[in-house]
Amino acid sequence: MKTYHNILVTEANKITTITINRPDKLNALNELTLAELKDAIQLVYTNENVSAVIVTGSGEKAFVAGADIPEIAKLNGSNAEAATKFGQDIFFLIENCPKPIIAAVNGYALGGGCELALACHMRVAAENAIFGQPEITLGIIPGYGGTQRLTQLVGKGKAMELMLTADSINATEAFRLGLVNHVVSKELLIEKCTEILNKIASKPSLAVGKIITCINHNFDKAANGYQTESTLFAACTETADFKEGTTAFLEKRKPVFVGK
Ligand code: COA
Repeated sequence: MKTYHNILVTEANKITTITINRPDKLNALNELTLAELKDAIQLVYTNENVSAVIVTGSGEKAFVAGADIPEIAKLNGSNAEAATKFGQDIFFLIENCPKPIIAAVNGYALGGGCELALACHMRVAAENAIFGQPEITLGIIPGYGGTQRLTQLVGKGKAMELMLTADSINATEAFRLGLVNHVVSKELLIEKCTEILNKIASKPSLAVGKIITCINHNFDKAANGYQTESTLFAACTETADFKEGTTAFLEKRKPVFVGK
């Protein structure tokens, strides 16, 4: 298993767990951490032994408490746009990954941490999770996709309120707003994510990736999601797993999918 400085990557039962690991800085995303996260996600794309990912934070307090503020403080008009694009591109990699990625939110998910959770396909929160986009208090705005993805998940009015006031919300409120899929005790956090991912792992993986693409195209102004749906539906009918799924139904037995 590849080792990094600021993230831990482990693999079990085809699930890769990526743990942001700067607990003394509440797992703040500095440039090195982002670069390592990018590398780990790129490996998920190509590693045939991996079918899903859990992203979480190290320590008791935080998922990720934001982008690294000392690094943010050094940004200016000439380098800031590239810095946001660097983060945005990594979060696009997460969002567009054909393998499901769940954020296991185990504490503060603020600023870039909230944006990291938003880029994942689903979010499961521990009861101590806190979400917020407090960038405005630093004189900036979210820069890793938060203005877009938070709006997609909670709607325009609530997104406006959260980003303009910098208010943070607890796990119960995040669940009520549709920001998280489930809230569980912190002891059950990884177990709940694993349970969801194992359920998905029993499904045909090519169809899994195609559903992720279609849903993402609903939010992509350059895409026609209905056209994507038709095209990818047709592509499914060319797979061995389509033949297996339909045959198994007709033969009244459980399908055995092979991911082809
Ligand atoms: N970037 C860099 N370091 C951070 C950080 C961030 N986003 N968030 C926390 N840290 C560091 C603190 O500076 C502190 O380091 P130090 O011990 O070397 O001084 C350490 O993590 C612990 O944080 P601390 O503030 O002492 O913990 P707390 O429990 O009192 O408060 C928070 C927790 C999350 C409320 C507080 O740390 C905070 O507001 N962080 C910034 C959140 C934010 O604005 N994020 C958006 C950034 S764009």
